[in-house]
Amino acid sequence: MASLFSRRRNKAAQNSRVREQKHEGFMRYAGFRWAKISGGLTLLVMASYALIDVSPRHNGGSWYGYTLGTMGALLILWLTMLGVRKRRRSDDHWSLKAWTSAHVYLGLSLAVIGTWHSGFQLGWNVHTLAWALMMLVIVSGMYGIAVYALLPRSLSANREEMTQMQMLEALRAFDRQLHGTAQGLAPADAAPVLAALSENPFAGGMAARLSGRYPRCATAEALAQLGQRRGTSEDVEKVVGLLGQKQAALGRLRRHLRLRALLEIWLYVHVPLTFALIAALSAHVISVFFYW
Ligand code: HEM
Ligand code: HEM
Repeated sequence: MASLFSRRRNKAAQNSRVREQKHEGFMRYAGFRWAKISGGLTLLVMASYALIDVSPRHNGGSWYGYTLGTMGALLILWLTMLGVRKRRRSDDHWSLKAWTSAHVYLGLSLAVIGTWHSGFQLGWNVHTLAWALMMLVIVSGMYGIAVYALLPRSLSANREEMTQMQMLEALRAFDRQLHGTAQGLAPADAAPVLAALSENPFAGGMAARLSGRYPRCATAEALAQLGQRRGTSEDVEKVVGLLGQKQAALGRLRRHLRLRALLEIWLYVHVPLTFALIAALSAHVISVFFYW
């Protein structure tokens, strides 16, 4: 008996360890491997910048400046490849995690590589445009990390209950029952119910999705109107009950959509800025060779 208990406890401990490993995010991947590599690289750049003498002063055009500039540009192209890697369907879950971990930490070290490359000679020109875009991409990435750090727990808690497909299926089931029951209502009572039935759960646009507020929700409206008619018939009671259940299901779906929107919105800044960065960087490199 005792051994059965302890075996169960071991099993539970093992399960929770597996769960922990699964939840071990890309930030901590492989014991902060990429944080260490990027930290080392950053220190190396800073130390060599201080130790190496460039006359008259450090700038992007010295052999040292070219080295850092080339490193930075290659890094930017590699960081951009994450978009391709993400879309390649592969069961190799771990390697995407490794990619993302390296992306985040090497992306951060780029702030030093790019800035130290310029020898801190910033001004109003296309070179500095490339630098500013690079910094904006990095800052938006940091925002993304903050969002991932704050949200995924609630997202997975919500997701574990029901997936989005199941949420929609639940809504449809309430709609079918409402449709059937509304047949027995007087036309004036049935109208708001029919409006609720024809409501698209995805309507409302980005603002509604991000705020989680749907002020013109037809289901809430129908519930308010039919609520005042309670006690007038059995069908009204039934419809009010169903509308309440549908509203709860809609609430779950909208919370889910809100979390997903918060997780995705920053990528609409991060990715287009990446392409602007690549364009400005190309202009920078071409102009530099043009004036050479
Ligand atoms: C991480 C990507 C890069 C960024 C953010 C960047 C940014 C800058 C900035 C802000 C400057 C200072 C401009 C000035 O003096 O007014 C500069 C200078 C320079 N960069 Fe880059 N650069 C990058 C990559 C490269 C690459 C790949 C090359 C060469 C293939 C390069 C070559 C140069 C040269 C030659 C200069 C000196 C230009 C001058 O003094 O007029 N850079 N870069
Ligand atoms: C100039 C440097 C950077 C470039 C060019 C860059 C570019 C990209 C690109 C193209 C993607 C693919 C997104 C997609 O297609 O959905 C991506 C994803 C991502 N980036 Fe960056 N990034 C940079 C720096 C950073 C930094 C510094 C961070 C964090 C501090 C970061 C965090 C992320 C994360 C977490 C993702 C994955 C998003 C997801 O899978 O949902 N990035 N980045």
